[in-house]
Amino acid sequence: MYVCICNALNDRQVSHALDQNPAIAAPAGVHRALGCRTQCGRCLPTIASMMDERRPAVCAMACAPADMGLALAAD
Ligand code: FES
Repeated sequence: MYVCICNALNDRQVSHALDQNPAIAAPAGVHRALGCRTQCGRCLPTIASMMDERRPAVCAMACAPADMGLALAAD
């Protein structure tokens, strides 16, 4: 599936860039890691979602107050 039409980037390329560059802190960093640049920006929310999906579970645990009774979904 194409994620970024302007740069012809698909989801596998974006996933690979995120896996290989864990320090990427913003969606535009994916473009830089893949040797291109953000153009129209319509892909940025999708890339941001892909980044959110990769955040370590420990962050979710550390960020959720224990006394709120929140259960983490394991999918
Ligand atoms: S769709 Fe990615 S910059 Fe336009």
